[in-house]
Amino acid sequence: MFTLAHVSDPHLAPLPQPRLRELMSKRLTGYINWKRREHVHRPEVLAALVADLASAKPDHIAVTGDFANIALSGEFDRVAPWLAELGPPEQVTAIPGNHDAYVAGALHSLERVAGTWMRGDDGGGFPFVRRRGPVALIGLNTGLPTPWFDASGTLGEAQLGRFAAQLGQLAQAGLFRVVLIHHPPVSPRPENKRLRDSAAFLRVIAAQGAELVIHGHDHVQALVWLEGPHGTRVPSIGVPSASAAPNTEKDAAAYNLYRIAGTAGAWRCDMEMRGMRGDRTIAALKRVTLLG
Ligand SMILES: [Fe+2]
Ligand SMILES: [Fe+2]
Repeated sequence: MFTLAHVSDPHLAPLPQPRLRELMSKRLTGYINWKRREHVHRPEVLAALVADLASAKPDHIAVTGDFANIALSGEFDRVAPWLAELGPPEQVTAIPGNHDAYVAGALHSLERVAGTWMRGDDGGGFPFVRRRGPVALIGLNTGLPTPWFDASGTLGEAQLGRFAAQLGQLAQAGLFRVVLIHHPPVSPRPENKRLRDSAAFLRVIAAQGAELVIHGHDHVQALVWLEGPHGTRVPSIGVPSASAAPNTEKDAAAYNLYRIAGTAGAWRCDMEMRGMRGDRTIAALKRVTLLG
């Protein structure tokens, strides 16, 4: 059995004091917005969740973006130490979120500090593939700098084309394909907060299939079944922010553990959601059989 943990949207806090020059951009509205949200994303909540995750001793950890808040250079300085706390790049796979690509050049800053957690076994960039035991992790990037008041994501045709080819090859190899994407493929949120080319993404999944899609961004627990090839269904599952305090607007901090067994054509996969309750203890919140 292979155990994969999924954690997302740590929104590492507290925010370093921005320089005035850094606020002369989209960061200004982001900074005001952060001031409203700093009671939500709490370092002590994140630390408690990570401690519980470590005690679960997963074989691998997937992190689906939004490390930063307004992409200050001081925020990126914290990303590598935080990822290293989760584990070395061989055991932890990360992708960026829209907050990591908040302004032009931000994604480059993230790659400079955390690139070893965000590339394929062949050293390649997005969409990248990592093989671990029976599992193939496919890392996508939806983080493009966007205008003010826009938190959408875009994959782009070139990335989608390579992604489709990878899914086909990995199915041939009989691997359990896990797709890491920051924005949910299906979301009830307005267009300026959604994946803009979600229809194209869904067409790729319908044609090539995948065993599991995991995402962050909406900061809520979510499970949607996508259409796969030949009448199959693909679970698309989101987790809340890993630092979200209980009793705030969105779901409290949680992560998912996937226990994967079997072989191609006869996979078994169970999910356990563990998260923070109102009394700030961490416990199993939900168990779901996804496959088998
Ligand atoms: Fe987020
Ligand atoms: Fe996001």
